[in-house]
Amino acid sequence: MKKHFIDIADFSKDDLLDLIHQAIAFRSHKAPPLDASRICALLFLENSTRTLCSFQIACCRLGIHALYPPPERSSLSKGEGLEDMVLSLHAMGVDALVLRHQDDRICETLKYSVGDQISIINAGNGTVHHPSQTLLDLMTIFEKKQTLTGLNVAIVGDVKHSRVARSLIQGLNIVGDNRISLITPAEWMPDTTDMENVAHSANLKEGLQHADVVVMLRVQKERIAEWDEQLIADYHQNWGLNVTTLDFAAEDAIVMHPGPVNRDMEIASELISHPRSCILHQVSCGVLCRMAILNYVFS
Ligand code: NCD
Repeated sequence: MKKHFIDIADFSKDDLLDLIHQAIAFRSHKAPPLDASRICALLFLENSTRTLCSFQIACCRLGIHALYPPPERSSLSKGEGLEDMVLSLHAMGVDALVLRHQDDRICETLKYSVGDQISIINAGNGTVHHPSQTLLDLMTIFEKKQTLTGLNVAIVGDVKHSRVARSLIQGLNIVGDNRISLITPAEWMPDTTDMENVAHSANLKEGLQHADVVVMLRVQKERIAEWDEQLIADYHQNWGLNVTTLDFAAEDAIVMHPGPVNRDMEIASELISHPRSCILHQVSCGVLCRMAILNYVFS
């Protein structure tokens, strides 16, 4: 039976803590290499730098081969269905598919059609799932706060279009008893009926009060049909994090952002390399967590 890494909700608290502890161990100890004949195809049908490169580096660190079929020059551009392409990759010897895709259900669909032959690893799909990002976010919080429970976590911005936020909310509820505050303009507030332990604030300064962790989200201009320049200017004024608004959070609050950042839109440039910013720490955790994920699916 192949193992998959598709949805953070498929994992228990112990599973996630094991993965995080393994990732932490990889920081100080060289990872034991996997079977060098393993091949992992990285198929990214949406743009990416951090997730794509960190999966490539993770493969390299584990001694396995990463194959990167460039999507615009693949047979998908000739109209081939994804399932047929994946079956062909498997017939050539590919063991795992790391997939980024715009469709909310694509990984589940592939799991049922070809998942007995190839491991599916979700590298972010649609607006719903981004489990490897959640793992690295939880690892960052754990390393910086020494706990994954009893925290006030503020998630600020475009929650409606954010797979990072949806997955993180689920992850925070799996690993501990945390209070999550979604700080969003009304039009970007998602339907919260399936979300546990979330409160909504439509005011940045109020919502940030007592926050131990502040997660800023990128404004996803590419997913918003009607974008208006005035909205960008107003956005920073009302919802942008800077050294002044950060003062409303707890004294030792950490600042996170999945990247890429729209500087001076959702977050002021001055905060990116601020001592309380963990943005680059998150990026470094990304490689280690993806090593732990590959190790999990191949073990
Ligand atoms: C995120 C994504 O693609 O969902 N980025 C990432 O994986 N580091 C967030 C974003 O693009 O805003």
